Amino acid sequence: MIYKNELAFPKNFFWGASTSAYQVEGANLEDGKGPSCQDVKEVPEGTSGLTVCSDHYHHWKEDLALMAEMGFKAYRFSIAWTRILPEGTGAVNEKGVAFYDNLIDECHRLGMEPIVTMFHFDMPDALDKRGSWSNRDSVDWFVNYAKVLFERFGKKVNYWLTINEQNVLTLAGPVIGTMRLPENCDNELREIYRQNHHMLVAQAKAMALCHEMCPQAKIGPAPNIALLYPKSCDPLDQLAAQNGNAIRNWLYPDVAVYGRYNRLVWPWLRDNGALPEFAEGDEEALKNGHPDFIGFNYYNTGTVEWSDGTEEMKGFTSQQENDGTPGVFKGVDNGHLPKTEFGWEIDPIGFRATIREMDSRYHLPLLVTENGLGAYDTLEEDGTIHDSYRISYLRDHIEQIRLAITDGVDMMGYMPWSALDLISTHEGMKKRYGFIYVDRDEFDLKTLKRYKKDSFYWYKKVIATNGEDLSD
Ligand code: BG6
Repeated sequence: MIYKNELAFPKNFFWGASTSAYQVEGANLEDGKGPSCQDVKEVPEGTSGLTVCSDHYHHWKEDLALMAEMGFKAYRFSIAWTRILPEGTGAVNEKGVAFYDNLIDECHRLGMEPIVTMFHFDMPDALDKRGSWSNRDSVDWFVNYAKVLFERFGKKVNYWLTINEQNVLTLAGPVIGTMRLPENCDNELREIYRQNHHMLVAQAKAMALCHEMCPQAKIGPAPNIALLYPKSCDPLDQLAAQNGNAIRNWLYPDVAVYGRYNRLVWPWLRDNGALPEFAEGDEEALKNGHPDFIGFNYYNTGTVEWSDGTEEMKGFTSQQENDGTPGVFKGVDNGHLPKTEFGWEIDPIGFRATIREMDSRYHLPLLVTENGLGAYDTLEEDGTIHDSYRISYLRDHIEQIRLAITDGVDMMGYMPWSALDLISTHEGMKKRYGFIYVDRDEFDLKTLKRYKKDSFYWYKKVIATNGEDLSD
């Protein structure tokens, strides 16, 4: 649809940005924090470890002040499970609680709504050693952690996100350093869908618990949703796109919202001997957990064609790149879309298409919890950073949100990735996303000083005009 008049962004729209604890905080074993899987993993060659990151743990006040200067209405960050419960279960680390207490209070003081992710790729190492999400006890571990969070922060956090990108954890665990398989695993697919099932049940229980313990709060999942297009109008390509979308995207919000598995994913799992086991009470738990909204991360769409099952495929090589699954779909280049310096396609129109699809499937308010451009930035001699490419990317995506609002979608806010530079999941510090530049390199910590990029000033104006002025 081409509209003659576009609707404005709602007055209470959450403009802000996102980070995650293990990528931004550093201080990875300080003040009683226990190690997570991210602290013990082998980082990809040529990329920084995760001990210092952007040193947000020591710069948080200054960082929040900069976000407030941009005019943020909300800030999405994650709580490190191991700062609160160093062993994953057991004793609470009061210094860890104090850190987030201060962070949350400061957000409120500055007029920014804290939007808190409970779990962002950082399983406590102690629990990893006990089998991570493969262990049925992981459901209880997560629910216990959720209870501690709701007890300690429940009165002052109004928006919670459960598990960041559960679909990426399930489908691309090796890329982000979270995959744990038990020894002698004879069916990898069955194992990862067992893990996935435990996460789904844990999430449903955490959502129900949130509603019980924090009646004022809203809670939702945060999957990575990327609509997959059929490569052509060949009907087989359409089937491939339906397969891919069911497995990559819809399974996750389907269970969160409707409490049941996606119809196409189930027979595929059955056919591969990978159906998850339902323990007593799981069905009821899935039905009882209801999200109030859906958070979702969007970077770009994918394109697929039919696979006859004979091809060799690598599967996911990053969160956004996937050459497919034999007999299910085959991932191909779109051909109409430019790519970032790091190889991800750029598709703002696909953002609107994805939003429309999410809206028509789930009928819930939508919060964009991530979206952004990873690029090489240059700090000039005079302390400026000219990231016009990031401004273009963000502008093109914000325009599509406005169109989606005009389409009738209830959009809650936009939390691009990332508020400040941080360490990428597997491509190090050099892949920068922030509005705020952090002065460090891959291996040289330099001054860790903060600088405002051109996109900082631009976003400030966007927020000040509630999205009316997107010009440079
Ligand atoms: C999302 C994650 O997959 O994408 C973030 O939730 C991540 O943790 C972001 O950093 C960008 O990906 P990458 O691989 O470029 O860091």
